[in-house]
Amino acid sequence: MKKIILSLFIVVSLAFNLRADEGMWIPMLLQNNEQEMQEMGMNITVEDIYSINHSSMKDAVVLFDGGCTGEIVSDKGLLLTNHHCGFDWIQYHSTVEHDYLTNGFWAMSQEEELVCPGITAVMLKSMEDVTDRVLEGVDERRTSAEERAEIVANNIDKIKAEAEANTDYQVIIRSFYNGNKYYMIYNEVFRDVRLVGAPPSNIGKFGGDTDNWVWPRHTGDFSVFRIYVSPDGKAADYSENNVPYKPNYHFPISLKGVEEGDFTFVFGYPARTNEYLPAVAVNQEANVIYPVNVDLRGKILDIYNKYQEKDPKVRIQYASKHAHLGNGWKKWMGVVEGINNFKGVEKKYDFDKAFTKWAYQSRARGAYLTLIDEFEKVYAEYEPYRLATTYLSETVLNIEVVTFAASFNKLSKVTKDTPQEEIEKLIENAREATKVFFKDYHQPIDEEVAAMALQEYINNQPADFRPELLNTIVEKYDNVQSYVDELFAKTMFTSEEDINKFLDKFKPSKAKKLAQDPALMAYNNVMDFYEKNVKTKAIELNNKINDMQRVFMRGQMEYHAEVNPDKMMYPDANFTLRVTYGKVGGFSPRDAVRYKHYTTLDGIMQKENPDIYDYVVTDRLRELYETKDYGRYADKDGSIHVAFIAGNHTTGGNSGSPILNADGHLLGLNFDRTWEGTMSDLIYDPSICKNISVDIRYVLFIIDKYAGATRLIEEMTIIE
Ligand code: ARG
Ligand code: GLU
Repeated sequence: MKKIILSLFIVVSLAFNLRADEGMWIPMLLQNNEQEMQEMGMNITVEDIYSINHSSMKDAVVLFDGGCTGEIVSDKGLLLTNHHCGFDWIQYHSTVEHDYLTNGFWAMSQEEELVCPGITAVMLKSMEDVTDRVLEGVDERRTSAEERAEIVANNIDKIKAEAEANTDYQVIIRSFYNGNKYYMIYNEVFRDVRLVGAPPSNIGKFGGDTDNWVWPRHTGDFSVFRIYVSPDGKAADYSENNVPYKPNYHFPISLKGVEEGDFTFVFGYPARTNEYLPAVAVNQEANVIYPVNVDLRGKILDIYNKYQEKDPKVRIQYASKHAHLGNGWKKWMGVVEGINNFKGVEKKYDFDKAFTKWAYQSRARGAYLTLIDEFEKVYAEYEPYRLATTYLSETVLNIEVVTFAASFNKLSKVTKDTPQEEIEKLIENAREATKVFFKDYHQPIDEEVAAMALQEYINNQPADFRPELLNTIVEKYDNVQSYVDELFAKTMFTSEEDINKFLDKFKPSKAKKLAQDPALMAYNNVMDFYEKNVKTKAIELNNKINDMQRVFMRGQMEYHAEVNPDKMMYPDANFTLRVTYGKVGGFSPRDAVRYKHYTTLDGIMQKENPDIYDYVVTDRLRELYETKDYGRYADKDGSIHVAFIAGNHTTGGNSGSPILNADGHLLGLNFDRTWEGTMSDLIYDPSICKNISVDIRYVLFIIDKYAGATRLIEEMTIIE
């Protein structure tokens, strides 16, 4: 018997062994990884990466604009991130006369660098373990989940307030390992960050949504910014008097490129992973929820495509909407396929079984005995609520006229007692929303989406999980189409002119009329149902699951400490600074196919197609290619390398992260993952999970040779 258990452990621990390439590590604790990193080829120490006593690489990495990563590459605060991360700011500064999205933008002097109001770059100054203080008063055995949540929240408020009283830095406290550990983080928040340069979209977004999530890839996904500070060197709001930031560290740039097997590491802000879920949860995600997301979004994207192909104006109007819906759609498809190919759910079930067996071996493990069974129950209970939320957000909330109408909700509730000033503010906001909405609105698309989406909702959700509106459609209309026809015929929200006329003459007495607009009514009907019948229960179940996951996480840490004592466990991504490392290398996505680890400019020319928007190549780039005017940016094989893949465990938020070589020199910017490996947010398999980076030599080639912004190259530290 003992023998059987033992061999089961071995099988399971092999399947879920934490392999060298897996893991997103807390920089403060990186000493534990140093030996492995050095054995894999790293020439520096972890103190060079993260130190609070002297300058280190952490002083050159920022959370860029709340969702991406950026890195500092000069002693004048020059910052690199992805094109798709700077996209909104490039768009913000674009006008018909200065279309920076299409043509690119290059500040040829510091005076030309463009202010971006509201942008932030957040730099970690230090972090400390505050677990004991946060959990003070919690008794692991006796405190109930509700009491625990309250104690933790109160302690966090107290600790944070104390820390804030003694510092100018931003203070945040984050839970790690699902509430088993807490760290306090001090950040400097830079608020004057200016746009310095961006390549044209047919370089920065080359391949567009077609190539998104896919290797081989040829995207020059980078943009350039600069951090400014007050004359005394402190983070400050924008001012004319601000000066370029002098960082404690900036990354030297390597022109040496990469070879198969080279050690690399990525330093940045991964947003969210769930690597420690029970099988039932992974199954629900991959086989119940994502297929619905994928199916519904696929149907919407088909409708977009149909109209986008017919009309160039519509193509531009729906480009960003398409990119937004398409990014998740494609990724989730990859996750589902990856998990099924890898038999991920089965492997998770094996682990859960081994875990429960292990729990039965000692009295001290009483908290874990029935955990897996309870997960089965609570996830089963949760499933209809998750589906309800998914259907709501992927159907009704993708009917543009309905969500647009919702931006008039406050105005529809004003009364004669509402202060005039407030009404005027609401009217002004409504006018602005109207302008933005109609710039990119094509009604035939919306009508078709509405009919499809409502029909899907009705077909796939049981009557008691459908908002009244849908049941009314079923009962009172011949079919969904006749409801949709009526909706679009009667609503005011499809006509910019009608809305503006209405706003011109708005009085509180007209609020009622607004509230009775069928688009706004549809929105409110659906949201009321959600608030009353879905949300409360969904939150309750979610809290319960989170609490069980905390216990399960603790159990898994104990389990691995015994079964794989020399394997370390990393906490799931939570938008805090992490280091991940792995080797450069191609992979085999399927039978008989082997991917090389890099792509070149030749590949761009092979993909070139002037008739397909995603594959247009500018004359300038073609000219550089034909004259082979590559300067020092060519690889030793003579070609320009564009992108490369490596085994770093990254996720969303790692976009723009520096990828560094064994000496800590910049090799490129992370910007995506390979499609076959997108399941890595749930289960990491090093043989197919690869991160994609743009080669820094391509970035410099574009800045220098393509754009002639050589002044930027001159301020960088370049290692030939
Ligand atoms: N897939 C990358 C990420 O997850 C890039 C997205 C932007 N690019 C695009 N073609 N939509 O965010
Ligand atoms: N493109 C993603 C981002 O914006 C990174 C790709 C990933 O999810 O790994 O963060």
